[in-house]
Amino acid sequence: MKAIIIDGEPGLDNLRLVDRPMPVPRRQEVVVRVRATALNYRDLEIVRGSYHTRFALPLIPVSDGVGEVVAIGEDVTRVKIGDRVCSTFWQRWVGGSFDMAEPSYQRGGPLDGLLADYATLDEQAVVAAPAHLNDLEAATLPCAGVTAWHSLFTEGRLQPGDTVLTLGTGGVSLFALQFAVNAGARVIVTSSSDDKIERAKALGAAAGVNYRTDPDWSSAVLDLTGGRGVDHVLEVGGPQSFAHSLKAVRFGGQISVIGYLGGTEGLINPLDIFRRQVSVRGIPVGSRASFQAMVKAMEAGKIRPVIDRCFAWTEIAPALRHLETGAHFGKIVLQHG
Ligand SMILES: NC(=O)c1ccc[n+]([C@@H]2O[C@H](COP(=O)([O-])OP(=O)(O)OC[C@H]3O[C@@H](n4cnc5c(N)ncnc54)[C@H](OP(=O)(O)O)[C@@H]3O)[C@@H](O)[C@H]2O)c1
Repeated sequence: MKAIIIDGEPGLDNLRLVDRPMPVPRRQEVVVRVRATALNYRDLEIVRGSYHTRFALPLIPVSDGVGEVVAIGEDVTRVKIGDRVCSTFWQRWVGGSFDMAEPSYQRGGPLDGLLADYATLDEQAVVAAPAHLNDLEAATLPCAGVTAWHSLFTEGRLQPGDTVLTLGTGGVSLFALQFAVNAGARVIVTSSSDDKIERAKALGAAAGVNYRTDPDWSSAVLDLTGGRGVDHVLEVGGPQSFAHSLKAVRFGGQISVIGYLGGTEGLINPLDIFRRQVSVRGIPVGSRASFQAMVKAMEAGKIRPVIDRCFAWTEIAPALRHLETGAHFGKIVLQHG
């Protein structure tokens, strides 16, 4: 079978198509024929070597995908041959609280990802793909979708009528927008682009603020909430953005700390958290239980992920370069087979 590896050193020019032996499932493992994969910002960072953790190479990148089960090992009970399943981001986090033993079991680094014809997955690390989604759509769920769901519902306990602030229109933020709107929340988005704000409004956003033309975007968000502030922020911007999020959140509100798209430098005054009695929570994607709850809600609400563009899976470097531009609106997906 064919696979793509990061070969030698990190770098978009060091992605190589190689031959690998056809995988054979061991006890409680399944082998899937990969049908589609989807990119996350993390995949880009791992390939170019800017991720906060360095993984041993060679590595098959890309955590998220969907495939058809073509072989099962001994004692597999959760799935059968022919099932269409999504990979989970964490190989071992089935439910409950996050265990710090987990970091060694992330798909797409340090465990091999799905950028291959076939992949071996633990039977506990798959979720049935939502029936109403095609392969490209289903491939987008494991990291960005589950992160948004876990932030808003598993941890955030979002209520109808709450106001949610999403930052930028990347994968996590658009899923959060769709899930929050579906749950009866009011969503305010920020973006670097007025055009993207209009597209977010078409998905149900109540209002948007352009953080590029309005650097004091937290004041604009406060105005949009009559000075009260939002109930929940999905913070993907990093420390500088976090300072604004602290201003935009209501007294007693919550901030899910997810990413650092704007960089890792900046000063935060923890007394601002204290003064506003804000709950701040780090989000490590989410468990399989969160994934399954999300699938249930997506099937009931007929929610479909937003797809920006599809590439052939062997066109991984151009696909990552497209992600790097930030021009996308929705997920960048790769067709296999
Ligand atoms: N902790 C976790 O579990 C977890 C899980 C998934 C992702 N993440 C992290 O969350 C972040 C988002 O991931 P993603 O996959 O959704 O990324 P993505 O799809 O690549 O999002 C890119 C978009 O983010 C927006 N953006 C860029 N710089 C920004 C800034 N300084 N402030 C606000 N928005 C900005 C831009 O949207 P506009 O053009 O609309 O401005 C850009 O198009 C990344 O840092 C990623 O590593 C963490």
